[in-house]
Amino acid sequence: MTDPLHTTERLPVTTAEPLPTNRDIAPFEHVAVIGCGIMGSGIAQTIAATGVPVTVCELDLDALARGKSRVLAGLDRSASKNSLTPDADRKAQQSLTWTTDLSDLVHCDLVIEAVAEIEQVKVDLFRRLDALPFGEGVILATNTSSIPVIKLATVTSRPERVIGLHFFNPVPVMELVEIIPSLLTSHDAVTRMRKFVEGALNKTPVTAQDKAGFIVNALLIPYLLDAVRMVESGTATAADVDNAMRLGCAHPMGPLALADLIGLDTVASIAESLHHEFGKQDHLPPPLLRRMVDADLLGRKTGQGFHRYD
Ligand SMILES: NC(=O)c1ccc[n+]([C@@H]2O[C@H](COP(=O)([O-])OP(=O)(O)OC[C@H]3O[C@@H](n4cnc5c(N)ncnc54)[C@H](O)[C@@H]3O)[C@@H](O)[C@H]2O)c1
Repeated sequence: MTDPLHTTERLPVTTAEPLPTNRDIAPFEHVAVIGCGIMGSGIAQTIAATGVPVTVCELDLDALARGKSRVLAGLDRSASKNSLTPDADRKAQQSLTWTTDLSDLVHCDLVIEAVAEIEQVKVDLFRRLDALPFGEGVILATNTSSIPVIKLATVTSRPERVIGLHFFNPVPVMELVEIIPSLLTSHDAVTRMRKFVEGALNKTPVTAQDKAGFIVNALLIPYLLDAVRMVESGTATAADVDNAMRLGCAHPMGPLALADLIGLDTVASIAESLHHEFGKQDHLPPPLLRRMVDADLLGRKTGQGFHRYD
């Protein structure tokens, strides 16, 4: 019996309307999303909701099954809130295919990598992608939060086609996308990405230089690390730090709840990248953050971080 998750065959299209292929608003015909965790699932959901076909690739069948249920639940949530019509929900679900084999992505003209924030993992993946016979115009994008794009671009033979495309969490809700060209990214790749973000995704792009943390995380992560240090030194509890920033500064979410949402492993990795790039002691993850990562207390994704999630 065929495992429905491990199939790359297109779902029957006989009942579906032809998908829009207007290159002015959606300059890509088929998008691949690699890694279907917190971010990859949101990216796949958001792009599929525009009607553009998406193939999702995960490490193994278990991770693929978890990712698939996150994406489908997200689409259903959008439909139940009326931000997606039932017809668009059905089309989006039909436009998704699922695989654990990178070679199933070769027909895609945009590949978005959203695997863990570990430089070696991403470097290995970009090397493997580069060995595949993609079409000439393919763009290889990374959703990295902090790793300089050039480090991934230069392990490929097409650095002019590698670019940072940094979405925010939760992807279907957040309007911003940072676009990060490396020193070797072509002008054409930047133009196509801007068109895609604005025209197809209806989000707002900002462009940042290829420095660790780009704009948002270069500003945000030091703040989150300071909040962890406050809890670590006993200045206040996590709940009081979060309440203080929510109620005293009108932030929608306190810094420790936000760190839990991002994932404490990801926060620690971004901090390491910033420290590596700029050499500032303040960018080093505090011991409490490291110990929580060691203990798998990663925030929402494991059910407990600075707060508990049932
Ligand atoms: N969490 C956030 O708030 C946030 C926001 C913006 C950007 N990012 C960035 O997005 C990327 C992903 O972060 P996340 O929070 O979704 O992480 P996550 O841990 O939730 O998901 C990562 C997924 O990648 C999969 N994976 C790992 N190696 C793989 C491989 N070789 N092939 C296919 N799949 C693989 C894992 O199985 C996992 O499901 C990171 O670069 C992170 O910095 C995260």
